[in-house]
Amino acid sequence: MKILPIASGKGGVGKSLLAANLSLALGEAGKQVILADLDLGASNVHQILGLPRSEAGIGTFLTRGQGSLGECVLDSGYKNLRVLLGDTEIPGMANLQLTQKNRLLRELRKLEADFLVLDLGAGTTFNTIDFFLSSPYGIIITAPSLTSTLNAYLFLKNVVFRLLYSSFKKKSPAYERLDLLRKDGRALQQVYLPKLLEELGQLDPVSYEAFSRKMQGVHPFLVMNMLENPKDVDKGEKIKRSCSEYLALNLEHLGIIYRDSNQDIALRSRLPILRYKPNSVIAQSIHRIAEKIIERDLEEGEGPLDSSRGEESFSPAAAEAETDYSARLTEIQNLLRTGALSPGDIMEIVKTQTYEITSLRQENQLLKVKLSKAVEQGFSV
Ligand SMILES: Nc1ncnc2c1ncn2[C@@H]1O[C@H](COP(=O)(O)OP(=O)(O)OP(=O)(O)O)[C@@H](O)[C@H]1O
Ligand SMILES: [Mg+2]
Repeated sequence: MKILPIASGKGGVGKSLLAANLSLALGEAGKQVILADLDLGASNVHQILGLPRSEAGIGTFLTRGQGSLGECVLDSGYKNLRVLLGDTEIPGMANLQLTQKNRLLRELRKLEADFLVLDLGAGTTFNTIDFFLSSPYGIIITAPSLTSTLNAYLFLKNVVFRLLYSSFKKKSPAYERLDLLRKDGRALQQVYLPKLLEELGQLDPVSYEAFSRKMQGVHPFLVMNMLENPKDVDKGEKIKRSCSEYLALNLEHLGIIYRDSNQDIALRSRLPILRYKPNSVIAQSIHRIAEKIIERDLEEGEGPLDSSRGEESFSPAAAEAETDYSARLTEIQNLLRTGALSPGDIMEIVKTQTYEITSLRQENQLLKVKLSKAVEQGFSV
């Protein structure tokens, strides 16, 4: 079984949308899929799929303390797709005890399917990172906004630190060095990782070797969501570059998804967009992502990515973004021509876009202030 955890740093960037629709797409392509809603405390996968809140779900399994997780897996009514939903007894990810988390992880691995898709909660809690690391193929999803890309990068930085902590023995000089950093949030933020790794490698070469092996087993994928125009792809390229330069992580491009107002209507109709509008730009992007995953023929414990793969993966991203952009405009033009887009819908789109323009202006203003302060303090551009 291949596990596909879906994470983001920032909330509301499309994890659940991707998790639910990607699971459907893999199922439609003939794969047996289980989708687990691990956004404990804020589970909403059932809503996206249009299913009732379940009686037995992950919460029941966790609070019962016995029995198997398999008993809580339900049929979704969609082709080849079973689900593990949240229920009212869920304790919340932050409150999940270590033993509960380990038990959940063990039981998840026992499930039988071709793919197990994990919809994770936002943020970088210890537990979320561990679910992300339950597979070499974690998917990180981001919107193009600065806060979103920054949070995606910080999530991956936390992943690397999680691997570091797990590789050095407690009380060893290397661990102490890491612990000092952890206690000083500012120093942790500013630390230049390649230099730190060099230091740790000198302090404890054997454990450092173990860390490097773990790092080789991490092949994260990147999905850019809520794109507005083809230029937004550059933001993904930037995260990728930062990951390779500062985190020694090779992020592979998996796909791009444009913002599409059809999604709001799909959500209101309690139908996943893949079913609501199979020809929509979002549905097509998600099918393409599913195809890529199937074609990549992922394997548990596969060796490190060949270094060129991540590099090459961004040219298709740019091409896909161009093609989807014209498809999206054509779709809007058609809707306008046929009258399918009501004046109310158009107003809704204009309102959302105006809101986004305002938020971007504010972000822009904030950055300008920061920049002028930096220049005042003698920073030369
Ligand atoms: N490409 C898109 N176009 C239009 N709307 C989108 C798109 N992607 C996501 N959305 C909408 O954005 C909102 C957030 O999406 P979603 O719930 O999937 O994000 P999330 O990352 O799972 O959020 P959370 O962190 O709260 O779990 C939803 O209303 C969803 O319908
Ligand atoms: Mg979600």
